[in-house]
Amino acid sequence: MRIIFATHNKNKMIEVRAILKDVASEIIAKSELGIDFEPVETGKTFAQNSELKAVGIRNYMQAHDMLQDDDIIMSDDSGLCVNYMLGLPGIYSARYLGEDTSYDIKNARIIHELRHAEGEERAAHFTCDICAAFADGRIFHAEGLFEGLIAKEPSGEHGFGYDPILYLPEYGKTSAELSPEEKNAISHRGKALRKMKELLEKVLREDGASAGKEAAPSEQPFQRIIVMSDSHQRDENVKAVLQKVGMVDILIHLGDAEGSEGRISQYAGDGVHCYFILGNNDFFSKLPKEYELKIGKHKALLTHGHYYGVSMDVENLVDEAIARGCDIAMYGHTHKPFLRVIRGVTVLNPGSISFPRQVDHRPSYLIIDVDAEGELHYKQQYLDRY
Ligand code: IMP
Repeated sequence: MRIIFATHNKNKMIEVRAILKDVASEIIAKSELGIDFEPVETGKTFAQNSELKAVGIRNYMQAHDMLQDDDIIMSDDSGLCVNYMLGLPGIYSARYLGEDTSYDIKNARIIHELRHAEGEERAAHFTCDICAAFADGRIFHAEGLFEGLIAKEPSGEHGFGYDPILYLPEYGKTSAELSPEEKNAISHRGKALRKMKELLEKVLREDGASAGKEAAPSEQPFQRIIVMSDSHQRDENVKAVLQKVGMVDILIHLGDAEGSEGRISQYAGDGVHCYFILGNNDFFSKLPKEYELKIGKHKALLTHGHYYGVSMDVENLVDEAIARGCDIAMYGHTHKPFLRVIRGVTVLNPGSISFPRQVDHRPSYLIIDVDAEGELHYKQQYLDRY
């Protein structure tokens, strides 16, 4: 298993390798794979920007046939947030006062901005968000903070950027006065990387993928669920997928089957429980607009998603799932695969089985294996992988 880190920065790679060495057999900088593509950071938050970078590189690798099935593409985004400046420079830290402006000038300006601030009013922190984009479509985030006060004057020779002006009261030093080892032990990036390490170890353990082993008979799923959406009457892909996947216990279709429900149930076979949800193109249909389904230990809200504005973001859908006591929210409509835990809710979209709109345009669906303990294991799948 490889971790490809989206950076050119050699110092970052040293820290990343030191912390993640036990998680992956190879930890590679994207430049070592000859990738000089730089996704544009148009996000409004650190998390959005780190995700844009990780997903951008993953899509680039996919499009250039460089992506291996168990690759994890990782990226980070960090910056300094100054309370007195309402969180600025924040995501603009590198660009603050211009990309080429020296940090002597940037630091002097921040100190000047805070000339009337005293004590806690000078609070500031570095933030780092790390995003891991799995080749199979899953996305994970980990965040770390490094808190201090803006110093009244810069001090220290170590580090880089804004380190000379982040004063750490408990050390009586600025971040630039710490040795690199001291800083890594408490820094935002170190914390985020260690959190990510824990997260990955858990996910890989659950996947059984860390050892690359086949599931032992006792680990065979107790129940298998296939989730698909937006087939829009192009049913040959549905048929092909069901033939490849073989036996499933439950089929969930999240809308816009456009009258093919009978045919799809037939393809699924006898004894398969099929749940069809109303999509925005299922005119004159009596299908339910949404449905709450118990799956293992969990409860899922099934919806097409257009009532929740999922084309913009999934926040309304997450609110609704929480209000209904659901810890899973499934939707379709966007034709783009999505799988993420947001505020404790696993939010997923299998993408479209017939008219995919994500960058690589591969028809997609999702498999959920329910184990004997009622825990769920998600696998984003693509038609051309079978
Ligand atoms: P990046 O996302 O790691 O490239 O960081 C963006 C910008 O945030 C950098 O160019 C710095 O201005 C600032 N920054 C991030 N981390 C640190 C740090 O540890 N020390 C000082 N400045 C930092």
